[in-house]
Amino acid sequence: MTLQGKNALVTGSSRGIGRGIAFKLAESGARVAIHYVQNEAAAKNTLAEVCKRGGSGFIVQADVTKPEQIKAMFKRVAEEFGTLDIFVSNARPEAVEFFQAPMDITLEQWDTAFDSQAKAFLVGVREATPLMKRGGKILAITYAEGSRTGGLQPWVGMGSAKAALESLVRYFGVALAKKGITVNAISPGWTEDSVLNSLPQQVQDLITNWHVRGWTPMGRLGTPADVAGVVGLFCHEDADWITGQVIYADGGASLMNPEVPTEIQIG
Ligand SMILES: NC(=O)c1ccc[n+]([C@@H]2O[C@H](COP(=O)([O-])OP(=O)(O)OC[C@H]3O[C@@H](n4cnc5c(N)ncnc54)[C@H](OP(=O)(O)O)[C@@H]3O)[C@@H](O)[C@H]2O)c1
Repeated sequence: MTLQGKNALVTGSSRGIGRGIAFKLAESGARVAIHYVQNEAAAKNTLAEVCKRGGSGFIVQADVTKPEQIKAMFKRVAEEFGTLDIFVSNARPEAVEFFQAPMDITLEQWDTAFDSQAKAFLVGVREATPLMKRGGKILAITYAEGSRTGGLQPWVGMGSAKAALESLVRYFGVALAKKGITVNAISPGWTEDSVLNSLPQQVQDLITNWHVRGWTPMGRLGTPADVAGVVGLFCHEDADWITGQVIYADGGASLMNPEVPTEIQIG
């Protein structure tokens, strides 16, 4: 697959899944805007790795909970690239900024979740579209298990915000169809080298063992490269007919039945 001559912006690409996406797009030939909020060193490191892979780009800072900063980020993209072909909305604040159960979550935490996902996507897509003069690919990185379930109580803010994000994907899918712009969401399962590594070691071990032991049929956690591969597929012209969809990229974890012990489900 070649993305030679294409320009991409990946939010939250200083680290984690976004970084993997930036690598994939660069390896495929795209120029990539590497975005971060506070970790400039990590963003510079991602850009250096992008250049090592034969790619090019620049780094740009913005807090995606602030619409004016999102607009400034796209202004910079317009100055550097002139046009945009791929916009991946991936950034997500640290868990401590929103991780609180429904009866305790502060309105500030709630707003952080919604502003960083639904509002950031609303503003970002409206800024990206005028730059997509030759059609384009817009992708949101969601967590559909969080928007569909209620068990992990402190995820209520982000789960609800991701649900709103997924809804926006469908509305924008229709709104931008005639412009040749597709809008889709990718829903990874638990992924290595991401927010997972910021959790206490015991929590990391519990989650990893759960997936390796059976919850993920493929028997391992995902990697940023796994998710990036799916972004790459969507960026290919063969995917031009898919829009408004939420696609799981989770090694089959979303196929498991939570009412039945995993030992019985996997032979
Ligand atoms: N990790 C998983 O297992 C998993 C599973 C399903 C879905 N996802 C989704 O995948 C996406 C990436 O997750 P991740 O775990 O890879 O993330 P991560 O490693 O925690 O990295 C977060 C990224 O977002 C940036 N960021 C944080 N707060 C921001 C803000 N207010 N404004 C702008 N940028 C901000 C960070 O920039 P700095 O480096 O400057 O702080 C960093 O680049 C998220 O949308 C997440 O919901 C992740």
